[in-house]
Amino acid sequence: MEIYGSFKPYLSKIKDEVMGKLDILNQKEIKNNKNKLYEHLIGRIKTEDSMMDKCQRKGFSLSPKSALYECKDAIGIRIVCNFIDDVYRAIELLKQADWCTVVKEKDYITRSKPNGYRSYHLILKVATPYPAIDGSMAGSYFVEIQLRTIAMDSWASLEHEMKYKHNIENSAQIVKELKRCADQLASCDVQMQTIRQLIRENR
Ligand code: GTP
Ligand code: MG
Repeated sequence: MEIYGSFKPYLSKIKDEVMGKLDILNQKEIKNNKNKLYEHLIGRIKTEDSMMDKCQRKGFSLSPKSALYECKDAIGIRIVCNFIDDVYRAIELLKQADWCTVVKEKDYITRSKPNGYRSYHLILKVATPYPAIDGSMAGSYFVEIQLRTIAMDSWASLEHEMKYKHNIENSAQIVKELKRCADQLASCDVQMQTIRQLIRENR
């Protein structure tokens, strides 16, 4: 099935272009503040099958408009940072950037999900030179950005892996252990941040 219709070829171009913009922000940050904004980036286009599942789940029609306008995560980029401060610095730079606007944000770092998931999610609206769903010849597209530390990312990948490998209802014990791991990793993030601060003060 082809839920992205004629817009499909633009999606990976937009993803690559936004990743390029992020790389520029990172280079500038290294040059000006001697600090890596992020450790690495991962980008993906949601497969048409998953997008159709999602639209069905949300009660949207199976159309490019639902896939690209109602849902805003057809294009997804994950920014994985070394330290919590870097996550907030990246958010600040994205809010200042002239090539995008933040249209939605969810802070699962200050308020983690009950299962222990931590991450900061932004939906960006990005101007592009490509035809868009509103009929314009150069229209805007939405891009979902997930920002997290390496520790948050490792928890999320393992939890995702286990959630999807076994289609069993998680027992209370599994839920509790996963939450405990998430909290321990969060505490490590704070310690690491403190260590970096101490090193900087002693330089
Ligand atoms: P959907 O996009 O339909 O999932 O709903 P939403 O926009 O309310 O979702 P949310 O912003 O909370 O999360 C979207 C994405 O974050 C998911 O597709 C995952 O990549 C990630 N995510 C959210 N919660 C979890 C979680 O508990 N575990 C893991 N591993 N990833 C999560
Ligand atoms: Mg989403």
